[in-house]
Amino acid sequence: MKITESKFYRDRCYINGEWITADSGETISVNNPATLEEIGTVPKCETAETKRAIEAANEAWPEWRAKSARQRSDILRKWFDLMIQNKEELAQMMTIEQGKPINESRGEIGYGASFVEWFSEEAKRVYGDTIPDPMTDRRIVVLKQPVGVVASITPWNFPNAMITRKCAPALAVGCPVVIKPASQTPFSALALAVLAEEAGFPKGTLNVITGKASAIGDELASNPIVRKLSFTGSTEIGKILLQKCSGTVKKVSMELGGHAPFIVFDDANIDDAVAGAMQSKFRNTGQTCVCANRIYVQEKVHEEFCKKFVDAVSKMKVGDGLNEENSSGPMIDEHSLSKVEEHVEDAVAYGAKVAIGGARHSLGLNFYQPTILTDVTPQAKITTEETFGPVAPIYKFKDEKQVIDLANNSPYGLASYFYSRDIGRIWRVAEALEYGMVGVNTGLTSKAEAPFGGVKESGLGREGSKYGIDDFIEIKYVNMCGLDK
Ligand code: SIN
Repeated sequence: MKITESKFYRDRCYINGEWITADSGETISVNNPATLEEIGTVPKCETAETKRAIEAANEAWPEWRAKSARQRSDILRKWFDLMIQNKEELAQMMTIEQGKPINESRGEIGYGASFVEWFSEEAKRVYGDTIPDPMTDRRIVVLKQPVGVVASITPWNFPNAMITRKCAPALAVGCPVVIKPASQTPFSALALAVLAEEAGFPKGTLNVITGKASAIGDELASNPIVRKLSFTGSTEIGKILLQKCSGTVKKVSMELGGHAPFIVFDDANIDDAVAGAMQSKFRNTGQTCVCANRIYVQEKVHEEFCKKFVDAVSKMKVGDGLNEENSSGPMIDEHSLSKVEEHVEDAVAYGAKVAIGGARHSLGLNFYQPTILTDVTPQAKITTEETFGPVAPIYKFKDEKQVIDLANNSPYGLASYFYSRDIGRIWRVAEALEYGMVGVNTGLTSKAEAPFGGVKESGLGREGSKYGIDDFIEIKYVNMCGLDK
């Protein structure tokens, strides 16, 4: 399929219910990372168009917040149904613009839609409180109200699910949204807008703006009408946005970088640990912020784990994600590929051994071989910096205390994983890991029902679950007095 032939293809932005071009008429070219061919263009909007999108959202706000929770829930539910009905076409579009294997794209459409389904239900459960007042003629009432216009800046690695994970709770509680998708993957975002229009969101409630990231990001972070900014991306950009948001004291949610430890204790089921490592490390060609970045294996099982892990990786097929047989796609671009290459060369220079892979793939373009490194040293960049690619560095450890110290020795605190069958150890380690998410005997913890988010420099706030709605709500306290008269 050509992306331009899809009924969901739009080469315009969606603002105030209209499909618009940039004021300058300029466009950005979007390429397929597997072939490097141009697949389409989107408008290169800047500050003026961003202001208009924010104003449109603000105008739409009174009507949207005045709807009953059930009315908003019904529209969200319709949006979910449409995503599921069109899953295959949306998945094909995603693989063409993002590169991930088609089965993973199908999985992501289901994953993305699950947030819309979940929050369509949660929309009806935004409960307030009554609190006993110290005076008998008074009552304290707590109302939960929508925060206002929400800006959402989303990454290229999950072009659908990172939008729905932010926007579904915002829309559910009555906030309008302005979405700035990554420039590498705008078509999945615009396809979501096509479906939102069909689902019946009033004009201005959901807006998608493409273009110059710095100009759009600056406006979203500094415009006083925007009351909440939700960002998924690097810690570096997150810190800049945090500073910019401070000017208008906005609420913020930040889903930033990670450097996940993945620990295999000697009492673990090694086959399960290998399966978990494959999933955690190689999902989306290693381009997730929850990917295993440091694989710690206890001495006694080190050899067995490495052998089985290498064996599993040797069976992976690399290539264009549209081919059903391929389990690893391209990196998003040359910049990402070079970083992976640099991390591997640096680790080897510091003494690591290449157990499998270790170089660009013979396919050329943006492809890198799935790689395992053993005997990795603490000095190597890969030990402290996020690689965001298909490279698994393995470290040997002696005991529980040592590995907890190693695992926590990071400014990041997003995801962590460990494998053990010892219930005492499971509790001790789960409680000791300084991470927002801990997978025990699993390499994948992401789901709509669970709170996704990190501690330390990995971010602020939680997405998904019953907690995911809190960041889009203001608490208002009303003191009802004079009730004895
Ligand atoms: C991310 O990498 O940004 C999100 C991964 C996930 O939702 O599992």
